Amino acid sequence: MSKYFALDIGTSLTKISDRSSKKYIIEPTIAVVDRDSSRLIAFGNEALEIINKTPGKVKIVRPIRHGQIEDLSLASEIVAYLLKKAGYSKLGRSYVLSSTYGDATKVQRRAMERSLKEAGIKETRFLESTIAAAIDLGLPIGEPMGNMVVILGAGCIEAAVMSLGSVVSSTSLGIGAEDIDNNLKNYFIKRYGINTSTLLFSRIREQLLRKSEDVESHVISGHDIQTGAAASVEVLTSELWPIVDEVLSQIVDGVISVITSTPPDLTNDLCQSGIYILGGLAKLDGLGSMLANGTDLPIHICKNPEMRVVSGLKHSLNDFSHMAKV
Ligand SMILES: Nc1ncnc2c1ncn2[C@@H]1O[C@H](COP(=O)(O)OP(=O)(O)OP(=O)(O)O)[C@@H](O)[C@H]1O
Ligand SMILES: [Mg+2]
Repeated sequence: MSKYFALDIGTSLTKISDRSSKKYIIEPTIAVVDRDSSRLIAFGNEALEIINKTPGKVKIVRPIRHGQIEDLSLASEIVAYLLKKAGYSKLGRSYVLSSTYGDATKVQRRAMERSLKEAGIKETRFLESTIAAAIDLGLPIGEPMGNMVVILGAGCIEAAVMSLGSVVSSTSLGIGAEDIDNNLKNYFIKRYGINTSTLLFSRIREQLLRKSEDVESHVISGHDIQTGAAASVEVLTSELWPIVDEVLSQIVDGVISVITSTPPDLTNDLCQSGIYILGGLAKLDGLGSMLANGTDLPIHICKNPEMRVVSGLKHSLNDFSHMAKV
């Protein structure tokens, strides 16, 4: 029997679901390779476990950077592995509806199609992430009125205003949650001479920078860049915010640029309907008020923000044959 899958491969997380099941596969878009032999050892959550247990022996490899596929065969191995792990072994009669960035070129889509073919998928079609998200949110994108969606992911942000069933103005920027981690890492190298894994900073970003949890200080542990000895420093949360804010300001500027390139009639609609914010970074406290101040528009932070795109793709599987080929 034919199977239809919704697939959203992200810089940090891959999400997959099949049309007939309620289950979602959600795993990190990573693999680990043996440092000595360069052999691929594990993918997804298993890779994360291995890196936590034996950090010296293996290194993380990632197929997607800033939302773009950099390593085709690795991307296809990860997708094939996740599908097999979930019990889907015969992929020859499988159809995949994949998310795509608004300004992805045909070459990039073709690369993704090829990568999925390598994984055994029979046919791949595409739907823009912003449209999939709007469908999941039930926004009236077919009406002659402006609807705005902003997806804040790990590696890129996408903002789009939609009306009459298509995208009127949009932007995709290669900045995201992981840029915050990289900037924090670089800050500790420069200011304190301590080198720490970006993994620690992603944890800090996710758990500790929530203003509501009121964590006043953080202990940052790593290695002294000169001596290599273990080193740590305690810093106040207030010291970290300016570094986070720098990336958030770039995001706000990107969103404002889309609003200013939108026809005034549709911008007026946005004063009522507001902007829907999704993607994992939507969970970062303080972002909503920053966007509200920057845009002067109502801001809706969506629940389950990282799952909205794959869920919208899943809703669209019934129209698979009408979706874009490449
Ligand atoms: N509470 C939180 N605060 C800040 N960031 C968070 C929080 N929860 C999750 N994230 C981040 O959200 C990101 C995952 O979101 P998402 O799944 O939307 O990204 P992605 O699809 O992998 O990336 P992209 O779409 O940019 O390629 C991760 O970087 C994760 O650390
Ligand atoms: Mg994403």
